[in-house]
Amino acid sequence: MPAQSEMAPAAIEARGLERTFKGGVEAVRGIDLSVAAGEVFGFLGPNGAGKTTTVRMLCTLLPPTAGSAHVAGVDVLRDGAEVRRRIGVALQEIGLDPIQTGRELLELQCGLYGISGADARARAEELLELVGIADAADRRTKTYSGGMKRRLDLASALVHSPEVLFLDEPTTGLDPASRLTVWDEVRRINAGGTTIFLTTQYMEEADQLCRRLAIIDNGRIVAGGSPEELKDRMGHDVVSVGLNGADPAATQAAIGELPGLERVMVEQDALALYVEDGPASIAEIVRRLDRTGVSVGSISVARPTLDDVFLQATGRRLEGDEEPAAAA
Ligand SMILES: Nc1ncnc2c1ncn2[C@@H]1O[C@H](COP(=O)(O)OP(=O)(O)OP(=O)(O)O)[C@@H](O)[C@H]1O
Ligand SMILES: [Mg+2]
Repeated sequence: MPAQSEMAPAAIEARGLERTFKGGVEAVRGIDLSVAAGEVFGFLGPNGAGKTTTVRMLCTLLPPTAGSAHVAGVDVLRDGAEVRRRIGVALQEIGLDPIQTGRELLELQCGLYGISGADARARAEELLELVGIADAADRRTKTYSGGMKRRLDLASALVHSPEVLFLDEPTTGLDPASRLTVWDEVRRINAGGTTIFLTTQYMEEADQLCRRLAIIDNGRIVAGGSPEELKDRMGHDVVSVGLNGADPAATQAAIGELPGLERVMVEQDALALYVEDGPASIAEIVRRLDRTGVSVGSISVARPTLDDVFLQATGRRLEGDEEPAAAA
């Protein structure tokens, strides 16, 4: 029933949300957002952008210095206790008791929400299955891998079946395989009807998981929409010229001023040319390189990525999108 879902109240609504810390750090500088019930919404931004500060305000862990927010229809300033009953939170820093087992931790967490006895045991079992760590349920958490700890932390945020789940950088520090597993859990939890607000530094993660997202930089939202809308709105293609050792400056000079060229980025052993029409530009680039005798490794046209969207909005690349070397 589309008419009804259009009328459904937003799961998260923020207006002019700001947070200035003592000493004058303006971590969040006026954020407006609206997240529909049932959606996975992403907050994509680099280190220090204000992601955690925003999550903490929405979760009632930190009072805003200005603005207002409602979560699950409840005012975070007026009725924090009710908001906390309706949300689950998995923060960036995981604090697990190393000598507890996963099952003990979840049963204890159930107790905090008034679920006890057989109900708690059943709920713990269900969640262990949901996040795929049932096999390790009776091992101490200190023996868990980084990915297993994340999944246990996710499970513990779900014991009371929250309407809205906040995940602050759920995959930072995980190896690529564990990252994929966490993505699967997020999709599965969302399929059960839970609205998810997640922060990430990884464009790929925002692209894969989020129906809509906001790009945050320096405490402000600089772009927002679905991943496809954001990329389409860029209105241009990216032509990548693989240098294969050729000199970047000489290659750039040989290509010169192309029609519809908006920007050139020198990357590691490649040039990225932002052009209106990728295929037409490729033909012209090949002609010009041929004429000047500069030889390059490869030329290809690619759809813009969310990193390109970030670049257009901020003039910088998103940092930290490389794979982390080791799991935490
Ligand atoms: N308690 C605090 N006191 C003072 N400044 C703070 C405090 N917490 C955060 N900040 C500052 O606010 C800014 C935003 O921090 P925040 O932790 O929200 O960023 P983030 O987007 O979560 O970054 P990361 O990706 O590294 O987790 C940073 O400049 C940070 O140093
Ligand atoms: Mg953070």
